[in-house]
Amino acid sequence: MPVALVTGANRGLGLEMARQLLGRGYTVHATYRDHQGGLAELNHPDLCLHAMDVRDTRAVASVVASIETGLDLLVNNAGVSDGRWSRIEDIDFDTVTEVLNINAVSPVKVTQHCLPLLDRAGGGKVVMLTSLMASLEDCQSGKSYAYRASKTALNMFTVAMKNELAERNISLLLIHPGWVETDMGGPNAPVKPEESVEGILDRIEEQTVALSGRFVEYTGRPLPW
Ligand SMILES: NC(=O)c1ccc[n+]([C@@H]2O[C@H](COP(=O)([O-])OP(=O)(O)OC[C@H]3O[C@@H](n4cnc5c(N)ncnc54)[C@H](OP(=O)(O)O)[C@@H]3O)[C@@H](O)[C@H]2O)c1
Repeated sequence: MPVALVTGANRGLGLEMARQLLGRGYTVHATYRDHQGGLAELNHPDLCLHAMDVRDTRAVASVVASIETGLDLLVNNAGVSDGRWSRIEDIDFDTVTEVLNINAVSPVKVTQHCLPLLDRAGGGKVVMLTSLMASLEDCQSGKSYAYRASKTALNMFTVAMKNELAERNISLLLIHPGWVETDMGGPNAPVKPEESVEGILDRIEEQTVALSGRFVEYTGRPLPW
């Protein structure tokens, strides 16, 4: 039975990811920050819940240490939007630092801590929930300064790690889930979490080390860097 770890799984895409991974036969280690949220209702024998703020290195180390098997799949899903400031003068730099920490630095830290578990599984797949908003080419409207910069940094961290990880049979996937109806995506988003996650899981299934570092939408459409 394959084993997965999903961060930020108490609501939104992470919760749906945990639900569908259980449906596809995975043992799922699902993490939440403060509240178990929808995880409390999943009630599945192959679901293990862990409290973990991705910024907290000790918590990350302790969750990883508690997993006694290898890890076939790591989904770095936890993320935050920024202040959606309308002018450069409004940018709050404490928030910028937080957004960069949660969206760009923490997924790399969680990945680093999970390497022994991925090695134990003989390799594995690491998925980064990124965004089309990371794209330099696509950035015509500007704004969302910190969110965009955080996801662009995450993309570069990921591509920069890919050769070293390929030697360990670990593949990295940069996936844009679409504009999805979650707390972050808002009520006007055209894609439902169920459809997005179904696509993401199909992309994960087809992922190989040869495809490592690709930047695609949940449908499989390649995105411009
Ligand atoms: N929805 C979209 O349209 C869209 C588009 C492109 C990319 N994405 C990306 O997809 C991922 C999931 O987004 P979503 O729409 O599901 O967002 P969401 O509904 O706002 O959920 C975000 C999740 O991340 C968790 N989280 C935030 N900060 C955390 C921290 N410091 N430690 C641990 N967990 C933390 C939240 O936990 P709490 O409940 O504790 O806050 C929550 O579980 C994000 O990386 C996002 O950037 C989403």
